[in-house]
Amino acid sequence: MFVQQPIAILDSGVGGLTVAKEVMRQLPREKIIYFGDTARTPYGPRPAQEVVRFTREIVDYLIQFRPKMIIIACNTATAVALEDIRSRVDIPVIGVINPGARAAIKRTQTGCIGVIGTEGTIRSGAYELALKELSLSVRVISEACPLFVPLVERGNFRSNETYETIRQSIGHLSQYPMDCLILGCTHYPFLTEAIAEVVGSRIELISSADETARDISTILHDKGQLSRGEVLPIHQFFSSGDPLMFKTIAQQWLGEQIELTPVVWQVP
Ligand code: SIN
Repeated sequence: MFVQQPIAILDSGVGGLTVAKEVMRQLPREKIIYFGDTARTPYGPRPAQEVVRFTREIVDYLIQFRPKMIIIACNTATAVALEDIRSRVDIPVIGVINPGARAAIKRTQTGCIGVIGTEGTIRSGAYELALKELSLSVRVISEACPLFVPLVERGNFRSNETYETIRQSIGHLSQYPMDCLILGCTHYPFLTEAIAEVVGSRIELISSADETARDISTILHDKGQLSRGEVLPIHQFFSSGDPLMFKTIAQQWLGEQIELTPVVWQVP
């Protein structure tokens, strides 16, 4: 019997769905198993060791489905746990920071790039490092936006509160000569409209989702592991928190019904 090995995608909550959606668009034959750790979101304010522990626990859970690749679709977890997870499994593990940095370097004309992310991601300096590895002359302006993830996890994408929070957090960025702003948290694409309105049309918003999906495609192609299944796959979703909230946001974002398995997690 033909058994399709899935691609495992994990995130602290619903944010990684932005990556999952792009993978579904670019690689429609690939089966996805997605874990959103909504019971413990957000990861951004947590100490690095805790985020590493949570990421390991999710990987240990997902590995039972024999994935051919793991995508850490959470910038905070990518910043602190990518190398650790790579050393623990013998399948490719991809994060979202290098793809996002690469996309911004390709697009910038002024050489001034903004990065917004969680406290954990910004504190790690991972984007700055990735950008400077690609271009020594790039100027990076980073800003932590700790209030954005809770808005997204509540499905609050376009309310007055959302616009006001965004204005207060990043309204000042338009004073810089930046022409690209990296949405350095997979939750932020849910707020694209509101962020774009606040920063103005001069600044292009960069999400790492499409570049990450391209990386996945290249790796699977090189390894001869692209799915050749004839039937469209049925994806599986797992969430550790409120299943109704996860399902509502996921179905709205993906534009299709999903199968969700609630996972009872020991929340510290
Ligand atoms: C978070 O859990 O705080 C956000 C996820 C991310 O950094 O992409």
